[in-house]
Amino acid sequence: MTKRLFIKTYGCQMNVYDSDRMAELLAPLGYAPGDAPETADLVILNTCHIREKASEKVYSELGRLRPIKEARGCLIAVAGCTAQAEGAEILRRMPFVDVVVGPQSYHRLPELVARASRAGGAVLETDVPVDSKFDHLPEAANAPGPSAFLTVQEGCDKFCTFCVVPYTRGAEWSRPVAAVLAEARDLAARGVREITLLGQNVNAYNGEGPDGRRSSLAHLAAALAEIPGLDRIRYTTSHPNDFSDDLIAAHRDLQQLMPYLHLPVQSGSDRILRLMNRRHGRQAYLDLIDRIREARPDLALSSDFIVGFPGETDRDFEDTLDLVRRVGYASSFSFLYSPRPGTPAATMAAPVPDEVARSRLHALQALLTNQQVAFNAAQAGRTLPVLFEKRGRHSRQAIGRSPFLQSVHVDDADHLIGRIVEVEIVSGQQNSLTGRLPVATEDAMPPLRQRATASRAVGATPA
Ligand code: SAH
Ligand code: SF4
Ligand code: F3S
Repeated sequence: MTKRLFIKTYGCQMNVYDSDRMAELLAPLGYAPGDAPETADLVILNTCHIREKASEKVYSELGRLRPIKEARGCLIAVAGCTAQAEGAEILRRMPFVDVVVGPQSYHRLPELVARASRAGGAVLETDVPVDSKFDHLPEAANAPGPSAFLTVQEGCDKFCTFCVVPYTRGAEWSRPVAAVLAEARDLAARGVREITLLGQNVNAYNGEGPDGRRSSLAHLAAALAEIPGLDRIRYTTSHPNDFSDDLIAAHRDLQQLMPYLHLPVQSGSDRILRLMNRRHGRQAYLDLIDRIREARPDLALSSDFIVGFPGETDRDFEDTLDLVRRVGYASSFSFLYSPRPGTPAATMAAPVPDEVARSRLHALQALLTNQQVAFNAAQAGRTLPVLFEKRGRHSRQAIGRSPFLQSVHVDDADHLIGRIVEVEIVSGQQNSLTGRLPVATEDAMPPLRQRATASRAVGATPA
């Protein structure tokens, strides 16, 4: 009998990837994806621990699930980074939870779920196993879209003083080259045109190559670029200190590598960077960006910022604004500092008063929004290759991505989903671009059956 599975995913892309793998692992047990917790037989919360708000969400969500469980007797599992960090505490506060499983052991979900439904008691699994979960994942079953994530590296050895990731995801570890290539070939064979390589420190990738030697991310990208049909490669998130010369060269040499880079700096103040244990200064970051831009002049950048880190003065914050003005970002994420239990920064002196931190966040976001609006507006009049990924809200509208990761909305383009097509950008708004298909295509619109081939002819896509 088919049972219904509902997974709610919080946090970063790595959790999105993991949730898809969990669904695949549970399919052989008869679980098919459902669309609401109210009708599910198994609910999984795949949690994030990065900031207090993110991690508290799991408790409020569990509070909502409790009456559903009492009424229907479904199973409830908590996975992800909060499960890893708080394990037993979750079971203490929410004793009706059936399974708690950390990010490195979810390959054992089928067994844990079976055990919980048999025994009726809670099952806790947060050990970091000696074998890798990747060796236990089944072949992907669900049809992927034109763009897919592929985890190549996990964990973090950097220990920034504010961050829980080294504790929730464990030590840095890279998947072997052959495993990554096999997964990428499979994705390409199923129609994927773009992959985003994922890792907490993806540019620290050093997976074992076929010859037993270590391979850099640049090497891996070059090997992936050989796979027919894989036209776009992205990777996230990078650390400035792991940005090697061969990766910079790859941005010059590999046309599949998209000219968009998420390179978090967190702060523009040397003093705060030191307190954060980022192990680089502002000038080193600015010099690095100069070097990457020399290799790839049209590179667009994004970053993460934390404001209100303990000890941050007005002067430090001014340094952050100054760095932002110097770099010019295409988009960015900025957060209020959130003290995390067990991290060194949580007990540092001179916490910043909440209203001061909030007004800084406001000022930083205003500047970053201006830059984003200007970057998007500057695309008007250009022609950009767009990978169409899904239907839009209007009839026959399609939504795709520019090389710079901007969302592009185009009317009468839904027949182009899965293709990379040259699009004339008409205007740029804060969060998306509006484009149209070149007039020539419209004029010579062939009968429906031939249209797919014709659209490919105008596209940037090699056949
Ligand atoms: N590995 C990546 C980012 C991982 S976490 C890197 O090194 O940049 C994603 C972002 O969350 C971080 O870049 C940081 O900006 C933010 N973040 C992490 N811990 C935080 C905390 N305690 N408070 C506020 N923001 C935090
Ligand atoms: Fe966290 Fe720093 Fe590691 Fe990024 S590099 S995951 S911010 S500890
Ligand atoms: Fe959150 Fe864990 Fe990702 S803490 S940001 S889900 S690595």
